[in-house]
Amino acid sequence: MPKFSIIAIDGPAASGKSTLAFRLAAALGFLYFDTGLMYRAITWVAINRKLNVLDEIGVSRLAENVQIEVLPPSLSDGRPCDVVVEGRDITWEIRNPDVEANVSIVSAYPGVRRALTQQQRRIGLHGHVVMVGRDIGTVVLPEADLKIYLDASAAVRAQRRFSELIGRGMKVKYSEVLEKVIERDRIDTNRDIAPLIPAKDAVIIDSDNLDADKVFEKIFDLCND
Ligand code: CDP
Repeated sequence: MPKFSIIAIDGPAASGKSTLAFRLAAALGFLYFDTGLMYRAITWVAINRKLNVLDEIGVSRLAENVQIEVLPPSLSDGRPCDVVVEGRDITWEIRNPDVEANVSIVSAYPGVRRALTQQQRRIGLHGHVVMVGRDIGTVVLPEADLKIYLDASAAVRAQRRFSELIGRGMKVKYSEVLEKVIERDRIDTNRDIAPLIPAKDAVIIDSDNLDADKVFEKIFDLCND
């Protein structure tokens, strides 16, 4: 039996949080919930509606009104869940470079964070959940039983994201992926509200020299000790 009910996993872009959280949730029989996809979905809707992402009031209003549905996967194409907005499946579109380039701007808006944090907290407090993001252990669920901060160097993270995008048939350059990862980290770390920072009581894991299996084993052991 796991000792914990609420598990928070935070860390910078492409640190392997989602892979770890998905596996951990499956092994424990918990709900896997990726908060990043909510920020990505709002960004996607803003771009799709041709809203200027620099229009803070417009984007914040959008975040309050748009309903993002996160559903069990309807296809076996590697997706951990379906992301649906207004009846449209945007699961893969929210991973595209145009969303990636704008999501940190959108997620720095206090109005956007307020709207999404409330929903995330409500889901997380039910327990039996592995929630992943940037501010789960610090803001969304500070009462989490276990907090993990998964880190890795920008070069290693960019290499992982580059391989992921190439695997999906995208034409991208490593140098550009690296630049964008660094820029996203810069905005996420320096914003006024809920910046990316390890919670004081987080277990910090540097995965530069640990593959996904090793990271998983380490955390799974912590849950069952
Ligand atoms: O998968 P990756 O780590 O690249 O990104 P993600 O977890 O999908 O998050 C995308 C973006 O959403 C981040 O760069 C943050 O700007 C924002 N985010 C956030 O501000 N707070 C969260 N709890 C989760 C994501």
